[in-house]
Amino acid sequence: MDMIIKNGTIVNASGTIKADVGIKDGKVVCISDSISDSECENIIDASGKLVLPGAIDAHTHLAMPFGGTVSSDDYFAGTRAAACGGTTTVFDFALQDFGEKMTDTVKRRDALCAPVAAVDYSFHVAVKDVENGLIDGIGECVEIGVPSFKVFMVYDFGVTDGVFFQVLQKAKEVGALIEVHAENNELVNMLTKKYLSEGKTSAWYHYMSRPEFVEGEADERAIQWAKASGAPLYIVHLANKQGVEAVTKAKDEGYEIYAETCPQYLEFTSEVYKREDGRNFVCSPPMKGKESQDAIWEAIRRGDIDTIATDHCPFQSTEKDWGKDDFTKIPNGCAGIENMYPYMLSAANEGRISFEKAVALCSANPAKIFGCKTKGAIAVGKDADIVIYDPTIDFTITNEKMHSDCDHTIWEGVKVHGYPVQTYCRGKLVYDNGEFVGEKGYGKFVKCSLK
Ligand code: URP
Ligand code: ZN
Ligand code: ZN
Repeated sequence: MDMIIKNGTIVNASGTIKADVGIKDGKVVCISDSISDSECENIIDASGKLVLPGAIDAHTHLAMPFGGTVSSDDYFAGTRAAACGGTTTVFDFALQDFGEKMTDTVKRRDALCAPVAAVDYSFHVAVKDVENGLIDGIGECVEIGVPSFKVFMVYDFGVTDGVFFQVLQKAKEVGALIEVHAENNELVNMLTKKYLSEGKTSAWYHYMSRPEFVEGEADERAIQWAKASGAPLYIVHLANKQGVEAVTKAKDEGYEIYAETCPQYLEFTSEVYKREDGRNFVCSPPMKGKESQDAIWEAIRRGDIDTIATDHCPFQSTEKDWGKDDFTKIPNGCAGIENMYPYMLSAANEGRISFEKAVALCSANPAKIFGCKTKGAIAVGKDADIVIYDPTIDFTITNEKMHSDCDHTIWEGVKVHGYPVQTYCRGKLVYDNGEFVGEKGYGKFVKCSLK
C-alpha cells in the first residue's frame, strides 16, 4: 500500500464507520477495522477527524467569457481553490459557440483545462445552437463521456422553449441529461427596462427585476417540458419556494427531476442587495427572500434537493464596479468553489443536517446523477479522493485565506465550525492545513456515463 489513513471516522452518504483506509495507486484498496502499520510507511493519523469523500462541484464557470469580461478564476486558480475547500472534482460549463460542433466545444475547453487543472474535472456542454445538424452533438458528446448539457432560458444566448424541447427530446433518445437555468427572460427584460427608465439602478433592482415568480414560473415551465418529453431534467441553482414546490410535486408524481441549490442561497437573502457592496452579490438567479430560503433548507432535509454546487463564477471588484450606477452592467456571478464543502459540513456540525446528508449532497449524489462512477464515496475500488476534516476548528472565511484569484468574496466574515485539514485527489495530497500543495496539470478528465 502507498498510504494508510488510520483511526478516523469514515463518513459516506450511506453511513458512518470507524475504520482505516488503505490506498494504492490512487485507489482505495482496503477498508478495515485495523490495517497493520507493517503494510506501508506512509501512515496518516486521523484520530478525532472525519474521513470524507472529496466533494464534487457540479457547477463551475472557470475562465468563462461572460458579462463583457472573463470570469476571474482560470482552470488552475479555480481548481486550486477547489482543492483547498475539499473539492476534488469540478464540472465546468463548456459554452458552445454559435455554429460550433459540441464535441469541438469540449475539445476547445479541455485544451485549456488539461494542462493546468489541479484536481479532476469534467464538463457539461452549455448549448446555444442546435441548427444545421448541431443537435447531433448531444449524442456525440455522450459517446466521448460528456452526457450532460445545460440550456439557459435567459441571457442573450438563452434558448427558446422550442429549442429547449428539441434538446430534451434528443436527450431522451441518446440517454443524456439536460440541465436548465430557469428564469423567465421576457419578464426579466421587461422589469429591467421599467426600473432603468424610472432611474432605479442600484443592485437591489437586480433582485427586483428577477423576483421569486420570475424563477418559479420558469421552473414550472421547464418541468412541464420535461414531463411532456419524457426526459429527465436537472434544475441548476434553484433558489425559490415556488420552484421547490414544483420539484417536490414532480418527484412525487414519479418524474425524474433533479434539483441543485447553492450555498449562497442557503446563507444569504435578497437583503444583501441593499448593502453598500450589494453588487458583489449579483448573480442570477439572485438570492431570494427568507421564505424561499426556508423552503430550500426544508427541501434539503426532505430529500427534494439532490445536490449542492457553487455556480462559481467570480469577477474582480473593478468589474463588479462597472455596475455601481447601473445594475445591468454588473457581471453576474460570485466566488464559492472553496466554500461549499466547509459550509455544508459546518451545517452538519451544527446539527442542521447530518454529515451523511452533507456528503450525499456534495459528493455521492452528483457522482450518481452525472455518471461519475469512480467518485462519490470512500469504498474499495473508488478513487482515493479523500478529505480529512477536523470538526473542532473554528474558521472565519476571509479572502486573504482563500486560494482563488478573485480579490474579494461574498463569504467574507462568515464563520464555519469545522474545516478540512487535508485533501487528497487520487491519493495525492493537494491541500495541507491552509496551503495548496498540489500540482498544476495533475487533474485528469473524468469520463462520465449515464448507462
Ligand atoms: O450569475 C451567474 N449564475 N453566473 C453564471 C452563469 C449562470 O447563470 O449560471
Ligand atoms: Zn445559470
Ligand atoms: Zn452557473
